[in-house]
Amino acid sequence: MASRRAPDPETSRREFLRFLLGSPLLAGAGLPFLGSATPPALQSGAELDTMALAEYMQRAQSAPLIQAADQAVNVFDLQAVAEERVPVAHYAYLATGVDDDATREANRQGFADLRLNARRLVDVSNIDMSVELFGVEWPTPIVIAPCGSQKAFHDDGELAVARAARAKNHLQVLSTVTTTSVEDVTAARGAPIWSQLYPTSSWQITEALLRRAEGAGCPVVVLTVDLPVGGKRDTLLVGRRSDRRNCVPCHGDASADFVTYTRRKPMFDGLDVSALPGLRTPGLTWDFVGRLKEATTMKVVVKGIMTAADARLCVENGADGIVTSNHGGRAEESRMATIEVLPEIADTVNGSVPLLMDSGIRRGTDIFKALALGADAILIGRPYLWGLGAFGQAGVEAALEILRAELEIAMQQFGAPSLADINRTFIA
Ligand code: FNR
Repeated sequence: MASRRAPDPETSRREFLRFLLGSPLLAGAGLPFLGSATPPALQSGAELDTMALAEYMQRAQSAPLIQAADQAVNVFDLQAVAEERVPVAHYAYLATGVDDDATREANRQGFADLRLNARRLVDVSNIDMSVELFGVEWPTPIVIAPCGSQKAFHDDGELAVARAARAKNHLQVLSTVTTTSVEDVTAARGAPIWSQLYPTSSWQITEALLRRAEGAGCPVVVLTVDLPVGGKRDTLLVGRRSDRRNCVPCHGDASADFVTYTRRKPMFDGLDVSALPGLRTPGLTWDFVGRLKEATTMKVVVKGIMTAADARLCVENGADGIVTSNHGGRAEESRMATIEVLPEIADTVNGSVPLLMDSGIRRGTDIFKALALGADAILIGRPYLWGLGAFGQAGVEAALEILRAELEIAMQQFGAPSLADINRTFIA
C-alpha cells in the first residue's frame, strides 16, 4: 500500500535505513521469505515487483508502533505514532519546512556534524541541570516552544501541553495563534507562562494582544521576527492536497480570509481584524523592539535571530533576551543550521542577556551541544508536538522526560555535573 503522506525526509530516511539494515538482500542472503507468509510481490508468480517487495520487507521488518507513551524509547517513537494518528494535512503542517525542507534538515545535520569530547573521572553522581531565567529557576533548560494551532494535533491541544508542563515543571511559551486562550492555558499550567507575539500591521491590535498577555500574568513576551512574509511551505501544501476530508467547516473555503482564520484563535476574540491582511508584517524594523519595550511591562525576548549582527542589534535596541532560531526550518530556505550560528551569536551577546536556541533538537546530546556552544536554555517544537499527536498529555510528558533523561546521561557520560560545567572544550 502506498504511503498516504507527502514524503517527510526525516521519516523516509529512517524507514529506508530500517529497510536497508534489515535486508537479507544487503547481506547477500537471497530472497527474503519472512515468517511463513509469502511476499505479495511474489504470490502471483508474475515478474518480481521489486518496489512492492521492498515495501513489504520494510513493513514486515519495521518495529511495531508503540501502544502507549511510556513505551517510547526516543522521541522518534512518538513521531511515528503521531504520523499515523494526526490527519494528513495537519501532520503536514507539523512536519513542513519551506521549499525542499533543506533548512529543517540542515538543523539536524548541524548537530550530527558536531562531535563531543568525553572527560573521565569527574564526580557525576549528582547532576544539576537547573537554570535561572529572569529570576525564576527551572529544573531543566528544556523549554516548550510556541507552536500554533495545537488542537490540530489532539483535541486537548494546548491544555494537554500545559498539564504536561505542570507535571514535569517546564517553562511553556504560548503562541499568538494558540487554539486555547492564554487565561485557560495559564490556569492549566498553574504558573505563569511566556506569551509569543506575532505583531500585526495594526498597533492597536498588537497592543490589545500585549494587554491580554499581561492580564494573564505572563512575565515575558517573545517577539517572533523571522516571518516577515514566510517561506513557501511545500510539504504543507502537498499534504493538504492529499487530505480527503472536508476542510471547509473548520477552515472555510479557498477564499477564506484572516477573519475566518482568527475565529479559532482566541487571542483575537473581541478584536476587529477585518482590516488586517494577515499576520505577516513585511514593514517591521528594529525600532519596533524599542516601541514594544515602552509599551509593555513584560520582558521582551526576540526570537528568530540567525546572525551575530542581528544579535548585537537586539541588545542595542533593548531586548531582554534572544532566541537563536530559524523557526525549525519553517522561515526561509537558508540551509543554515541554528547550531552553526550559535557560537558567534553567543560571543556577541557575551552573557549580557539570556540566550536561548531552538530548531532541530531531538536528543539529549543535541541539548548538550547547544549549551556547550553558548545557549543558556533550549526550546523544543516538533518533539513535544509528536507526543501530543500520539498520546495527548502523556505523550508530551514522555517527550519531555526522554529529553531530560538523555541530557542527564550526556552530562554524566561527558563529565559535566552542572550546566555551568558545560563549555566549548566539550566540542571536539
Ligand atoms: C512553530 N513555531 C512557531 N514559532 C512561533 O514563534 N510562533 C508560532 O506560532 C509557531 N508555530 C509553530 C507551529 C508548528 C507546527 C511548528 C513545528 C513550529 C516554531 C517553534 O516555536 C520553534 O522555533 C521550532 O519548532 C523549533 O524547531 P523544532 O524543535 O521543531 O525542530
